[in-house]
Order: sequence, then structure tokens, then C-alpha cells
Amino acid sequence: MTILAIETSCDDTAAAVLIDGSVRSNIISSQAIHDLYGGIVPELASREHMRLIAQIVDTAISKAGVDLAAVDAIAVTHGPGLAGSLLVGSQYAKGLALALKIPVYPVHHIEAHLYSGYLEEPDLAYPSVSLVVSGGHTSIFRVDSPDSFTVLGSTTDDAAGEAFDKIAKMLGLGYPGGPAIDRHAAAGNRDAFAFPRGRIGEDSFDFSFSGLKTALRREVDRLTDTGEPLPINDLCASAQAAIVDVLVSKTMRAAAASAVPAVTISGGVSANTELRTRMADQCAVRGLTFVAPRMQYCVDNAAMIASVAAMRIASGAAAPSIHFSIEPKAIRTR
Ligand code: KG4
Ligand code: ZN
Repeated sequence: MTILAIETSCDDTAAAVLIDGSVRSNIISSQAIHDLYGGIVPELASREHMRLIAQIVDTAISKAGVDLAAVDAIAVTHGPGLAGSLLVGSQYAKGLALALKIPVYPVHHIEAHLYSGYLEEPDLAYPSVSLVVSGGHTSIFRVDSPDSFTVLGSTTDDAAGEAFDKIAKMLGLGYPGGPAIDRHAAAGNRDAFAFPRGRIGEDSFDFSFSGLKTALRREVDRLTDTGEPLPINDLCASAQAAIVDVLVSKTMRAAAASAVPAVTISGGVSANTELRTRMADQCAVRGLTFVAPRMQYCVDNAAMIASVAAMRIASGAAAPSIHFSIEPKAIRTR
């Protein structure tokens, strides 16, 4: 079966082709225009999707070495995300499905992230625990089958990526902030500053990153008053350590509580060097299988959308619909 998938929920225009479960193309165009504004500008995002969508879909099709006529089904993100962005992808998908007389399947963006481990390792057994960490979401799931999962916990304020971005902004490191913090942290001391680990001692699997932001702001103000240059590397290493400690500790507790043999991570923040290393180490200590998909499956991408559609079509759980609506806030993840 050949599935063409489209993903335009935020600021990446993406299309992919999956043939009989294998990814044949996965094209992602990240919109650089937002960097000028220090964050995503929704109106600009939808305009960029409009400008790019046709060529990205064409590239995905030609890179896969197929013809549009060979496509059996279309899968598209219907939410959550920015309304204008979601509309561009879903209207394009519906139009194409009508023209080609093939079914179109709406896919939930976070569900696609949480199954990314299975896109990377199709033979990975169920159940598993999946940590989804991006600029918009931070949640832990127990994944029981291709059709069934449970949210164990979510952030109660900022997403982890949002915390990275806001901290980078305070330190004058630009947007997006995660990669810059990752780089500076490599040369810093993670114990230089004792930043709070939000809710780390609690039984719940919920997260909170707003206290860290406030603590960092206070520290930056105090250091600025001394007139000394800011110890950027140490601030980055200590802030990153605070975020990573909580993510790793809660994911390990969730894996133990659900007695699962495997842990997966996905979302843009899973690019973080310390997070990947610490997760791998802690899983190894506990004898857990750890799957950190290649980054092109972790960031916003359409291969993960195609993959969820394929799993659901195979299990009979997916219902095609040309009448679906976008759901910008969609199913709450907590
Ligand atoms: O999944 P993604 O590409 O987009 C969505 O938010 O859906 O994630 C982007 C987020 C940004 O907040 C960015 O700062 C963060 O992922 N990020 C990182 C790293 N690379 C990207 N955070 C920490 N360390 C990184 N190396
Ligand atoms: Zn995402």
C-alpha cells in the first residue's frame, strides 16, 4: 500500500511517502522566516505553507520514485496545531484525495509523535513508555498497542522545548533556543547553579518548568548587577541539567510503574545531547530497550503521520473521511 502523508501543523511543511511500511521519502522544509521574530508568527506560517505545499508534495512523490496515480491513500495531520497551518495541509490533502478518488485519513499529531519509536523500530514490542518532548508538548504515555495508549502525565505549564527557548531568549541566544543551549552546555558545569527540578519528588508524572524560568531570570538579574559577564556556558549547563533530570527521572519512574520493557523518545527536544545520553544510560542500567529515532522522525515530519495511518488501516481502526474538521486544540493530552 502506498500512502502519501502531509504535515503542516506548525512551522514545518512536510510530506512523505510510505510504501508497504517502508519510508520512501520524508521531506521537511523548516520555515526560517520565524527566526527573525524570536518565535512562530501564525499568519506567516500559513502563508509559507501555502507557498511550499505543492512543491514539497511533488518532491516527496518524485523522491519516492512513484507516480501520484500509484498513491492508494492520503494521511494528513488534522490537529493539534495552528489553525491556519492545519487548514493548508488538510485542504490540500482533501483536494488531492478528491482528484485522485482515494481515501483521506486524518491523523492526530501527538499520536504520530508517540508512535515514532515504532516507525524507527517496527519490531519493537508493546507495551512501552513514550516521552514526547517538543516546543509545544511534553507528555509521557504508556503505549499498549497500535490503537491504544494512555497519557500518564503532561506539563502543567511550559513544554520542555518552550522552556529551552525562553531560557535561550533571556540569555540572548536567539530562537530556537534548544540547539544553542545544547552547544553551550557542552562547555559548562551542570552543577554551577542549583536550579529547581519542578515536581521531581511528586508521585505524579506531570511536569512544571515555569519555576526554572523564574529562578534563571533571578540569577541572570543578580549576575548582571555584579557587572561581570554572564557565565553563559554554566547557566546553560545548569538549566539543561534541571530540565533533563526531571524528564529522565519521570520517564524511568513511569517505565517502572507500568513494568514496560522499552522506552522511546520523540519530539524536537529529543535532539538534546544530554537527554539522549542520560536516557540511554538509565535504560541500560535498568535493562530497558531504548529507542531514540533518527532526528528526521523526531521533529515534525510526515513519515510519522503516514506510519500511524498505515498501522490503523492495517488494524482496521482507521476510518477515512473527507468531512473531517481541523482540531487546533484537538484531544487534550492530559
Ligand atoms: O518537534 P519540534 O521540531 O517542533 C515542535 O515544537 O513541534 O521541536 C522544536 C523544539 C524547540 O523548542 C527547540 O528549541 C527544541 O525543540 N530543540 C532542542 C534541541 N533541538 C531542538 N531542545 C534542546 N536541545 C536540542 N538540541
Ligand atoms: Zn510536533
